[in-house]
Amino acid sequence: MKMNKMIELINQQLLETIPDSALGTNLEESMRYSLEAGGKRIRPVLLLETLKMLSKNHTYTKGIRTALALEMVHTYSLIHDDLPAMDDDDYRRGKLTNHKVYGEWKALLAGDALLTKAFNLISTDNAIDAETKVALTSQLSDASGHLGMIGGQTLDMESENKKISLETLQQIHREKTGALLSFAINAAATIAKVDTEVSEILDKYSEHLGLIFQIKDDLLDVYGDAEKLGKPVGSDEKNHKSTYVTLLGLEKTEQRLQYHVEQANQCLKQLSDKQYDTTELESLTQLFYKRDH
Ligand code: IPE
Ligand code: IPE
Ligand code: MG
Ligand code: MG
Ligand code: MG
Repeated sequence: MKMNKMIELINQQLLETIPDSALGTNLEESMRYSLEAGGKRIRPVLLLETLKMLSKNHTYTKGIRTALALEMVHTYSLIHDDLPAMDDDDYRRGKLTNHKVYGEWKALLAGDALLTKAFNLISTDNAIDAETKVALTSQLSDASGHLGMIGGQTLDMESENKKISLETLQQIHREKTGALLSFAINAAATIAKVDTEVSEILDKYSEHLGLIFQIKDDLLDVYGDAEKLGKPVGSDEKNHKSTYVTLLGLEKTEQRLQYHVEQANQCLKQLSDKQYDTTELESLTQLFYKRDH
């Protein structure tokens, strides 16, 4: 199945999992509003492509609900990230942000409900065994929690208006963005039950991919096109955030980016030496590197 088909499947199933409320509120409408098309779906695609590569028959059906769960956690993180109390942005995925349409309290609740729904999807997944569900629940809660994405978001907010070290910035990137991207890859390894050696290579690959993704996000905030991105540029400057660009300048930032691309490709080479077909992951790495949105 080609990547576009995969994205179509994800888009369709995402909305189907949240039907209108029996309570008669429009909370579900606001959840679907932010989930709707416009997101690149790179996290679910990464999970499913990794699973396809790892599984014997190259199927990825066992990963679908976990992939949806991951996109829900990610979407919730964006709704909250855009709130006036955080980055205070008005556009996301080419549309007004959730709080601009539904108001702040409902945006908070839509985010809360998406996070909760994610764990419900995994716990009620009939395609995977109980042991795998427990492992995935533990991994997703770690990746999204206070030592993962939320921890990174906290550090990011606390670092506004401050000069921080490159180490701290890297830690912010690893947690606020890298943790969920790593989950995409590690979840596939868990579902496919791969051995420790392969899962360690994948984990390393995912760390480099996470850094590639967020360094590029920082760069696009400087020289990207708001129309293509579907979100404003200059948000980091507005909020006095430290980024790779502010700490290192454009040239050194590009060099860092290239370094992580080389490292990521080396990890893929190790996998292809083990007879895995890494073609799709090579394309995804390149996509992360060259993306303009
Ligand atoms: C944006 O993520 C937030 C970051 C972690 C940098 P994406 O660039 O994947 O956003 P969508 O899902 O395509 O909207
Ligand atoms: C947000 O990072 C990452 C998460 C939501 C976890 P940013 O604040 O840089 O993301 P954008 O640029 O608003 O998408
Ligand atoms: Mg932010
Ligand atoms: Mg933001
Ligand atoms: Mg950003």
